[in-house]
Amino acid sequence: MEKIQKLIEENVAYLIVLTLLVISIAALVEIVPLMFQKSTTQPIAGVKPYNALQLTGRDLYIREGCYGCHSQMVRPFRAETERYGHYSVAGESVYDHPFQWGSKRTGPDLARVGGRYSDEWHRVHLVNPRDVVPESNMPAFPWLARNLADAEGVAAKMTALRKVGVPYSDKEIAEAQAMVEGKSEMDAIIAYMQGLGLALKNAR
Ligand code: HEC
Repeated sequence: MEKIQKLIEENVAYLIVLTLLVISIAALVEIVPLMFQKSTTQPIAGVKPYNALQLTGRDLYIREGCYGCHSQMVRPFRAETERYGHYSVAGESVYDHPFQWGSKRTGPDLARVGGRYSDEWHRVHLVNPRDVVPESNMPAFPWLARNLADAEGVAAKMTALRKVGVPYSDKEIAEAQAMVEGKSEMDAIIAYMQGLGLALKNAR
């Protein structure tokens, strides 16, 4: 036994390989059960996949890098829940690919922003944040109001998401293009914002 220990401790290659082995087993023991746990893989009551317009808005949110300043994950601390509402649970994000959790916050968390402001507030805020929040250092996104949202691509995105388990019906996919047609990028991103975090809010 002592011989083996000496061998491992004096040979860096053995030490590295065996250390990695121990860490991987420990990681598997921690991670694998989570993959099968209902609370992490099943949507909570009331969570629906994003409709075509919201999904388009979500992609714009990612394109514009909003996630660089905004997390969508309320942590289970009193200071957070008093400010934002119920802490985030995994079952809210099962249809999010990729999810928008995170801890980098230059601006506030947006996980519960749905319904907090009017559509008009968002419109003014995105064109020039200083018009509604004078001290804001959020950049302006005026082009969102000028660009038409991508209606042609959305059905294909929904089909792809269905492959990874988002339960879109054939009807929703067939009607997707019409839902986005003629809408601006601004309309799409506001539709997305206004839907965030509602399922849990409504369930309580
Ligand atoms: C450079 C960092 C930065 C980026 C990028 C950014 N924001 Fe912000 N955002 C902020 C800051 C700071 C605030 C707080 C001041 C304010 O309300 O304008 C804020 C506030 C907000 C609010 C109000 C939240 C609340 O609860 O009051 C919304 C909604 C919002 N941002 C949406 C967006 C969207 C959508 C995008 C991408 C198009 C975006 N932000 C990009 C920094 C950013």
